[in-house]
Amino acid sequence: MYIDSKNLSNTINNFYDSHMYTPELLDFYQQSDYVNLGYWDDEVSTPKEACDLLMSKLLDFIPEKQGNILDVACGKGETTRYITKFYSPDEIIGINISEKQLSNCRKTLPSATFQLMDATSLQFENNSFDAVICVEAAFHFNTREKFLKEALRVLKPGGYLVLSDILLTCEGEESFLHKVENENYVQDLDAYEALCRRVGFESITIVDATENCWRRHYRYAVEFVHEKFLNHQFDFSTLQHYMSFYYRQVEALKYYLLASARKEK
Ligand SMILES: C[S@@+](CC[C@H](N)C(=O)[O-])C[C@H]1O[C@@H](n2cnc3c(N)ncnc32)[C@H](O)[C@@H]1O
Repeated sequence: MYIDSKNLSNTINNFYDSHMYTPELLDFYQQSDYVNLGYWDDEVSTPKEACDLLMSKLLDFIPEKQGNILDVACGKGETTRYITKFYSPDEIIGINISEKQLSNCRKTLPSATFQLMDATSLQFENNSFDAVICVEAAFHFNTREKFLKEALRVLKPGGYLVLSDILLTCEGEESFLHKVENENYVQDLDAYEALCRRVGFESITIVDATENCWRRHYRYAVEFVHEKFLNHQFDFSTLQHYMSFYYRQVEALKYYLLASARKEK
């Protein structure tokens, strides 16, 4: 069944607004407000550390972290909080389609600005931002290409877009995102680079982070839920619920990528 943009937003909000606040998820992320797979290397031992490292890797793409920055699909505000290591809070704007998550953001970071907005229709003037960041959300957008065009438009000349994104199979797009038209389908990393170039970006870097982000996260999460089961903190049906969620993702997910692209000076 094809879902139009409004229904898609409602579906996405129903999913995140319920799952992001469960005790299990908060426990997994050690009471932090992150909801992403993180970047796992040999030094990382917890999801919170992995999420911090993902932020560090993405911000590393921006050579001079100056001026203002837009955090697209800012979740509950933990990515935005990380950005304050480099940018003053009054130079940071976060946007999301969920009012519930935004109210969380405003409590976490009162001196930053948070607005209800769809990533594919940014309500900002041309050439407004020195940088745009988007952590693990563009696969939800209807479409990713519309978002990339909007990001290019609102960036100042010479500004950077940095993001992490997930490429799904066609079947994954349908079952996870209810999009049978597959307008968002991107086959591989070369096609992703070509898309960024076609939209108008230059100096494009695409990094395959499937092993560090998805596969290592998967191994950690599978062990985490089994440990809970062994310790009688999860019953069998809870274990089955999480494992079926993870097994379905194995089928659906092709690549996890990090990307950086610059608007021409
Ligand atoms: C996996 S979460 C990532 C949240 C956050 N960036 C983080 O890393 O913790 C995906 C987020 O994308 C947001 N989102 C989905 N579609 C969106 C859209 N069209 N415009 C803006 N935000 C959107 C969701 O509300 C959710 O907060």
